[in-house]
Amino acid sequence: MDALQAGGDRAQVELHCLQVRDGFRVPDRILSEHEQQRAAAFRSTEARHLFTAGRFLCRHVLGNRLGYTPQTLSIAMTPSGRPHLTDHPDIDFNLSHTRDRVALAIHYGGRIGIDIERLDAFSEQAALEIMPMILSEDELNQVNQLEPRSHRDIFLACWVKKEAALKCLGMGFRINPQSVTFALDNTTYGEYLQTPEGVIFTRSGRFGDVETGIFAWSIATSTPVPQPIWHHHTV
Ligand SMILES: CC(C)(COP(=O)(O)OP(=O)(O)OC[C@H]1O[C@@H](n2cnc3c(N)ncnc32)[C@H](O)[C@@H]1OP(=O)(O)O)[C@@H](O)C(=O)NCCC(=O)NCCS
Repeated sequence: MDALQAGGDRAQVELHCLQVRDGFRVPDRILSEHEQQRAAAFRSTEARHLFTAGRFLCRHVLGNRLGYTPQTLSIAMTPSGRPHLTDHPDIDFNLSHTRDRVALAIHYGGRIGIDIERLDAFSEQAALEIMPMILSEDELNQVNQLEPRSHRDIFLACWVKKEAALKCLGMGFRINPQSVTFALDNTTYGEYLQTPEGVIFTRSGRFGDVETGIFAWSIATSTPVPQPIWHHHTV
């Protein structure tokens, strides 16, 4: 738990990743009544554990930064499912989970969206089948000019950027992902995207290792931010 409470100078954007070991259970008392009800409603045990681990992570980190105990931090949800802090409208956060990881992105003074995916989330064949449903025509043309063996990784890098951007806008896949076009490269440089709601800036990269998994990640923010540093935790 200490690692989640490490303070230090506050960056404009903070990224935290929690690796959840088998058997870890979030105590009910950390969660609000609404979160406990939501957790109980999940049919999939894995989905329930990832949801509660996400709330555990953001309640600990944000509670620590803002001076609350984890259970007294007040988190509400928009009708489209986006969690936010009721008492701190100037601080935004967003969550993403996949396999045994939960990622939390915090933006002090702007909006943020995050997505992480494990690089082997899809087989190369599955990636080929899904690509036309997610990529715009422009992006598909760009992919098709590249080496076939790089298609899956390029697609995943694009997928996380798009999902982060749509989550930053607060609508997720209620916005058609094909309506958003990025340049398809694997760089970690920031890119920006003009949307009807304003400009969205992105930062992307990878973390992890072959043994425990390599993850593609992207954040989208409403203001340009420096390349952020990841804080990794395990419970
Ligand atoms: C947002 C969305 C893209 C996330 O997809 P996902 O596969 O669950 O991906 P991730 O694990 O990366 O993200 C989940 C987290 O995104 C956040 N989130 C949920 N809805 C969000 C939204 N509209 N905007 C931004 N973030 C959102 C939540 O924190 C959620 O985690 P939690 O439920 O544990 O709190 C997807 O749920 C979506 O498009 N939702 C809006 C459309 C909708 O209402 N669909 C109904 C189901 S089809």
